[in-house]
Amino acid sequence: MSHSASSLGELIPAARKSAPVTGPGSRRLAVLDGATCIEARPGTEGVARWLRAAVGAATGLPLPDGEAGGSGGNRISLRIDAGLEPELGPEGYQLVNTGYGVTIHGAGPAGVFWGAQTFRQLLGPEAFRRAPVTGKREWAVPAGVVEDAPRFRWRGVLLDVARHFLPKDGVLRYLDLLAAHKLNVLHLHLTDDQGWRIEILRHPRLTGTGAWRARTKLGHRASPLWDERPHGGYYTQDDIREIVAYAADRHITVVPEIDVPGHSQAAIAAYPWLGNTDVVDTAALGVWDTWGISPNVLAPSGRTLAFYEDVLTEVLELFPSPFVHIGGDECPEDQWRASPAAQERVRGLGLAGAGELHGWFVRHFDRWLAERGRRLTGWDEILDGGATGRGLTEGAVVSSWRGYAGGIAAARAGHDVVMCPEQQVYLDHRQAAGTDEPVPIGYVRTLEDVYRFDPVPPALGEAATARILGAQANLWSEVTENQQRLDYQAFPRLAAFAETVWSHLPAPAERDYPAFERRMTAHYARLDALGVDYRPPGGPRPWQRRPGVLGRPIEGAPPIV
Ligand code: ACM
Repeated sequence: MSHSASSLGELIPAARKSAPVTGPGSRRLAVLDGATCIEARPGTEGVARWLRAAVGAATGLPLPDGEAGGSGGNRISLRIDAGLEPELGPEGYQLVNTGYGVTIHGAGPAGVFWGAQTFRQLLGPEAFRRAPVTGKREWAVPAGVVEDAPRFRWRGVLLDVARHFLPKDGVLRYLDLLAAHKLNVLHLHLTDDQGWRIEILRHPRLTGTGAWRARTKLGHRASPLWDERPHGGYYTQDDIREIVAYAADRHITVVPEIDVPGHSQAAIAAYPWLGNTDVVDTAALGVWDTWGISPNVLAPSGRTLAFYEDVLTEVLELFPSPFVHIGGDECPEDQWRASPAAQERVRGLGLAGAGELHGWFVRHFDRWLAERGRRLTGWDEILDGGATGRGLTEGAVVSSWRGYAGGIAAARAGHDVVMCPEQQVYLDHRQAAGTDEPVPIGYVRTLEDVYRFDPVPPALGEAATARILGAQANLWSEVTENQQRLDYQAFPRLAAFAETVWSHLPAPAERDYPAFERRMTAHYARLDALGVDYRPPGGPRPWQRRPGVLGRPIEGAPPIV
């Protein structure tokens, strides 16, 4: 195995500018050894802790605090330089490696942290291990200057921990993987028909009952197979505090999602009165064991609203995120149409029909969150039909998943937008045609397709473009039942996605995909060191296949536009 450092040109995501240091007196490499210190100037102590923990573990070097070596000496110097902000924004950084010592300046602590991630990549793939694998005493980093800053402020990944629970250590591991790719938002889809994953002290049955299901559909819902093992799990409030703190140390915001008023069968199974009891015997409902869109949605009652205010009160205590996601997607209205109680509510509110109850629900929590200084975030259905789209607060944010259209409409209406169109960045969708892909669902979206994704659709116009906060890759988990499957779907495509949101790439058709693929050679070695079960470029390894488990490829899916 090669022990060499990575070159400046092998960074993923690609840096905005980088150049080797050349000229008289310059050295080609800086060398880290047992005497190398970390000098953490004020505000960078957290980055120093991370560097010492991550790079210290991989190299076995102690990296003590200090200024040893005199000026320009054997040290990694971390500094905040607010003067960088006008040019590079709050997350920008400069990494200067003179060949003698390394300085990472950031416009703020996040910039210094992203610079430290670049520094780790430059040390080579071995720097991604958790313990040294050689007797190497000295670690080289190529001399050079990197100046870098993200294109977008929202560089997100959704983990669907509701369909299949991802135990806490798996979430912490994903936070490390996000950080390694300079991604900075983890959207946690905590509740759905198939499970409730966050402890709520005021309503303990949400997890006592709602976090468990007796069995699980194996494959797409049309599959005849079942996994007869009970499935479940949830995060205690201490687990959530730990996840949020671990994320904050990595400059990642955790955005919680509590999905209402659809995708709520697990909650209804726990508290049957939350459902439309005059239409369906909700007491007989269990946590859902198959996939799709459950018809069992929340009753539009004052008691339901109060219950979810309780839930969100605890959520706000746990998550400092300015953005709180309330779902709002895929809510069938049949039960509301059939329910005398819901019809009475429609009349009482003076609505035109059951179709407006969804908007009423969303607007209630939009105002409720705004009064508490938070911003409602919701799937693009929050803009749909009737009065629904009207009357959202200015701060409400739209996650555009049914293509770009919802995001375009939202941006034009003055709302901030996160682009996550299912046609492009739903990474649960299969990554190659053919029968070898495990439980293939959705569109074929290859590594190259993801590399050519752009969060900003063509001809959006300047004002609306300014509303695009960024983009998010969504990893729904109906057919990814554990970490290994999740890794397979996420990687290597998440590396390409990271570049589309961090780097300043040309228009999709002009992107140099062969060059990206060449850089991926170095990156696969990093992923190997991290223990990521990615899809190899040649296709799945035999044990990554799932012969006989039915997926649902979308045949003849329309091309990406
Ligand atoms: C979604 O995929 N239902 C947001």
